Amino acid sequence: MCGIVGYIGSREALTVVLEGLHKLEYRGYDSAGIASIEKGELFVYKEVGKVAQLEKGVERKGWKSHLAIGHTRWATHGIPSEKNAHPHLDDKKRCAVVHNGIIENYDAIRRLLEKRGVVFQTDTDSETIAQLIGFLYKGNFLRAVQRALPLMQGAFAIAVVHHEQPGEIICAAQGSPLAIGMGQEEMFLASDAAAFLRYTRRAIYLRDSEVAQITQHGVEVFAADLTPIEKESEDLTHAIEEVTKGDFQHFMLKEIHEQPQSIQNALLARFSKEYGTATLDNLNFSDQELQQVERIVILACGTSYHAGLIAGQMIEEYARIPVQVEISSEYRYKNPIVRDHTLAIAISQSGETADTLAAMRELHEKGAKIMGLCNVQGSTMAREVDSSIFLRAGPEIGVAATKSFTSQLVVLSLLALKFARMRQMSAQEGIHFIEALEKLPQQVQQVIQVKNPIAMLAKKYAAAEHFFFLGRRYMFATALEGALKLKEIAYVNANGYAAGEMKHGPIALIHETSVTVAFCCDSFTYPKMMSNLMEIKARAGRILAIAPEGAPDIEGIADDVIWVPPTLDALSPVASSVAAQLLSYSIAFERGTEIDQPRNLAKSVTVE
Ligand code: G6P
Repeated sequence: MCGIVGYIGSREALTVVLEGLHKLEYRGYDSAGIASIEKGELFVYKEVGKVAQLEKGVERKGWKSHLAIGHTRWATHGIPSEKNAHPHLDDKKRCAVVHNGIIENYDAIRRLLEKRGVVFQTDTDSETIAQLIGFLYKGNFLRAVQRALPLMQGAFAIAVVHHEQPGEIICAAQGSPLAIGMGQEEMFLASDAAAFLRYTRRAIYLRDSEVAQITQHGVEVFAADLTPIEKESEDLTHAIEEVTKGDFQHFMLKEIHEQPQSIQNALLARFSKEYGTATLDNLNFSDQELQQVERIVILACGTSYHAGLIAGQMIEEYARIPVQVEISSEYRYKNPIVRDHTLAIAISQSGETADTLAAMRELHEKGAKIMGLCNVQGSTMAREVDSSIFLRAGPEIGVAATKSFTSQLVVLSLLALKFARMRQMSAQEGIHFIEALEKLPQQVQQVIQVKNPIAMLAKKYAAAEHFFFLGRRYMFATALEGALKLKEIAYVNANGYAAGEMKHGPIALIHETSVTVAFCCDSFTYPKMMSNLMEIKARAGRILAIAPEGAPDIEGIADDVIWVPPTLDALSPVASSVAAQLLSYSIAFERGTEIDQPRNLAKSVTVE
């Protein structure tokens, strides 16, 4: 999986492609590479690591070209190495391919080609594309690509160049996004239009099985049998957002600090205090449709899944609508049962997570309406769902989600409020809920103000290798998210559990060096949580609690307490999560890990 970019026109193609690759680094940063053709010769350059490395190497080469394709990789098949970096070549080194996705039947294709004498160089699935096209090439480049496509199973967006056709790029897509940007006598392609937005806003998106032949003068799109297709171009309206770290050492820290504002933005003009309800903008569902909803399925991955778990709890508590919260990668293979009046809510910061897109398409085909909650305008999710609600969190660069998570929680709280007010919640209760929402930015600011004491606690606990993150009810998914954050950026074994489950096995792992981060802000289960912590204390486990100011007993039980402002149980995940983000950040800082781009991860996972 990965990001691909291409350019053909009169600008310096390598520069344009490198710029685009920087924009797509959120899709992976294990290696990067570029290919171009000049005077009929194919040039390829690759580097292990980030796009900045590639950029330095390309500068040293001093190449000039008007056509180039590039790639930034998140390794799926084959270790991150120069050999396995894209672009991949056929064995005669005539064509080069960049690929986002996975070719599932790569082994069968490889064995078939090897029997015919083709020599493979890499461990990747992607090389089979280049080899297959090279093998099928008999002088007609477009035809060779078109013949290769039906033989490949899986998801892909590809761009291919051939040294005998120096004036064109052929590209195709199947289940992975590919945007083609149309300029004046120059053309662009990319996995995400953000890569070329500063040059053009006119674009087309390739649909499954379509093939495009791009020259400097324009693009021709064909169906699988090479019948020409007329495609309407779209004018992309989303903003170009350039972000810097400012005075912060890491994007993650900056994004943690932005949360009072991002939460404010998520709330802005989205409720009516007078009526005690939410007024979500541009919702393409009528009140009648929402009133008829009898069941909700929430689909998401990673941090977004944790937001989904919290939202599920909230919608059931306040609106009494049954909610099923599902990990997208599991749900899509369950052959889901969809009855009338089922609403699916897909949650994704990026709007590009392959599993969530696939699960949501599966439900759509079965007749469910889809509401998408995402942060990126113009993303695949935003383009495909029946109705989008944007998080308005602004670009999130740190791979570990922070502000997008709290914005998801806030927007989902508004949705829960809307559903609840359409059912049994009174206006008075609605107003009370809104008042609690309004206080969140200030409460988060209060948590951020204790970042120095949290950093001191991080020093104390940073050397521990085993962490438990425990909570009950609203704090359960909050604990899961806290544990995920620590794993992601500090590379520490951190397990999130429902506190009541400890006694069924995990408590066997408690001893004097294990650390339990205890999320104690769910008032309904607070006494039970205290009992669970006593069980840990009785086994000499160390306890660091995150608790609401004024909570009884906890100081006598925990070794340390991070105090957060009290609020409704349903909204308590917000401030608790910010405290946990600061804790994970500070532990990672102590351990000297690469916080913004942790090893093995990508901001957006575009393969299944
Ligand atoms: C990756 C990111 C996580 C994110 C998850 C889901 O794993 O590293 O931070 O939560 O994808 O991403 P999405 O864009 O769908 O929210």
